[in-house]
Amino acid sequence: MGFNLAILISGRGSNMLNIIEACNNKTLSSKVKIVISNNKNSSVLTKVEKKGIKTKIILENQINKFEKKLSQTLHEEKINFVCLAGFMRILSKGFLCNWEKKIINIHPSILPAFKGLNAVKKALEKKVKYTGCTIHYVDKGVDTGEIIDQRIVKVLKTDNEERLAKKILKEEHILYIKVIELLEKKYNYGKDR
Ligand code: GRF
Repeated sequence: MGFNLAILISGRGSNMLNIIEACNNKTLSSKVKIVISNNKNSSVLTKVEKKGIKTKIILENQINKFEKKLSQTLHEEKINFVCLAGFMRILSKGFLCNWEKKIINIHPSILPAFKGLNAVKKALEKKVKYTGCTIHYVDKGVDTGEIIDQRIVKVLKTDNEERLAKKILKEEHILYIKVIELLEKKYNYGKDR
């Protein structure tokens, strides 16, 4: 068993590829049914297709039109859980109420610190000694949903934005798998089922 997952991305897609890998090597019981991007230049989708996983690009400026197409796709693919991984759009309250506690997001900071864009840069500017990453349920705010789990990264004097982001990303990859595994168990979608 496991979830029928959809992963939503806007960019590079390293977390997405890492989730696919964990499903393929059976670390997770879930199946990635589709990867959806809102970016027409998502070259990473070619890699996904080579793995035999469906992809879809939804380009709609108006959020209600975007969400209508998204809902339709999620329904067609019988999706029961959605992972946002570098997905750069805010979903509306109307859409989210049908997906309460069924959509999670990863953010490169220890929330509630440094919500929104440029979280790594903001952490460096504040000279924090520790930062990290958070996975939270998605609600109508920006990075405000209930926190599920976090991982910590120590900030070194020698860190610049690039180096720190790289260290955080490594932890993101570990955290995302850990959280999906936890939720598979929580929702009784785990291996023991
Ligand atoms: C990650 O840092 C994630 O925390 C943030 O966007 C970035 C996405 O990276 N939300 P990738 O596309 O998964 O490589």
